[in-house]
Amino acid sequence: QAAQKGGYKHFMLKEIFEQPRVVADCLAGRLDATHQRVCLEELAGMPVPKRLHVLACGTSYHAGLWGMHLFEDWARIPVSVEIASEFRYRNVLLDEDDAVLIISQSGETADSLACLQLVKSMGVPVIGLCNVVGSSIARESDRVVYTQAGPEISVASTKAMCSQLTLLTLMALHWGQEKGTLREADRIACIEALRQLPALLDDHLPAMREKARELSRLYADARSFLFLGRGHCCPLALEGALKLKEISYIHAEGYAAGEMKHGPIALIDPHFPTFALALDDALFPKVKSNLQEVQARNGEIIALTNEGMDLQVEHPWIIPRVWGPLGAFMALPALQLFAYETADYLGKDVDQPRNLAKSVTVE
Ligand code: G6P
Repeated sequence: QAAQKGGYKHFMLKEIFEQPRVVADCLAGRLDATHQRVCLEELAGMPVPKRLHVLACGTSYHAGLWGMHLFEDWARIPVSVEIASEFRYRNVLLDEDDAVLIISQSGETADSLACLQLVKSMGVPVIGLCNVVGSSIARESDRVVYTQAGPEISVASTKAMCSQLTLLTLMALHWGQEKGTLREADRIACIEALRQLPALLDDHLPAMREKARELSRLYADARSFLFLGRGHCCPLALEGALKLKEISYIHAEGYAAGEMKHGPIALIDPHFPTFALALDDALFPKVKSNLQEVQARNGEIIALTNEGMDLQVEHPWIIPRVWGPLGAFMALPALQLFAYETADYLGKDVDQPRNLAKSVTVE
C-alpha cells in the first residue's frame, strides 16, 4: 500500500496532487489545436438536447450543479440538476428531445443506475459521464464519456470531481459550438485557459497545501463551519462543506451566499467560522456584501479570492485568477486540501472515513 501511495501519507493527498495530470489526460485528443475547437467524438452525430437533466449523487451531483452554469451560458440549454435518489421516485416529465446526463465516478451507484433504467424505459437518450471503464452505468448508457481520472481509492472523491469538471467544460463547449451560441472569443479564451491549467495547478498545489495546513490548525477545534458561494461557486461551497464533514467529522453546511439571510445567519457568532468563495467574477460584489453581514455578527472568515480584490477578511486565501468559471479548478483543490489537513491534524482515518463507502451500490 505504501508503494501505491507513491510517497504520500494518504491516497486522498496523492489523488489531490494528481489533478494536474488528470486535467491533461482528460484534454488529450479532445482539443483541436489548429482550429481551437473541442472534438468530443463521444457526442458526435447526437442532436443537441432541447433540455438536459443531470442526475447524480454526492460529489458528482455537485459537479453537475457546476456544469449547469456552463450548459446554460454557452449552449443555451435549459438544465435541471437533481439528486438521483429523489428523481427516481418522482413522476417526472421528460420529452424525447431531452437528454439525461448521469454523472458517476464509479458507474455503480444504485440510485443513479435506477435513474438510468427509468429514463431509458421512457425512450430518452442517456449519456453516462463515468470514470470506471465498463461499469454498469457506462455499459447501459446510450453514449458514454469517460473522465480518465484513473482509479480513485480514497473514499472522499477529489480527482474524480476535477475530471468531471473538465469533461463538463468540454461538453458545454461542444454543444455551444454545435449550436453557434458560444462566442468565438469565449471559446478561444476558454480553450487557452484549459490548456494552461495542468501547469498552473502543478505550480500552485504545494503552496496551497501549506496554506491549508496553516488554516486547519487555526480552526481544527471549530464545531461547525459555514461554506458560502454564489453562481458557479455555489456548488463549490457545497463540495467544500461535504469534504470537511466526510473526513474530519466537523459539521459543515454549504449554502448559496444570498440565501444565508434566510436562516444560517442566525447561527453566526465568533465560534462559527465561515469559509467563503469570493473569486473575481460578476457576483463578487454580492458575495462581498454577504460577507459583511457575517462580519457584522463577529463571524470569522476564510475567503478564497484573487489578487487585487477589495475584500477585508481575517484570512484571505489568494489563488491564481483563471478565465471565467474555470476558477473552479483552482478553488477545488484548496477546499479539498483544507478538509484533508484538518482531518489529518485531528488524526482521522482520512482514506476510510467511518460509515462511508466509496460506491453505494444499495439503496
Ligand atoms: C459515495 C462516495 C462519494 C461519491 C458518491 C457518488 O457517497 O463516498 O465520494 O461522490 O458516492 O458516487 P459516484 O460513483 O456515483 O460518483
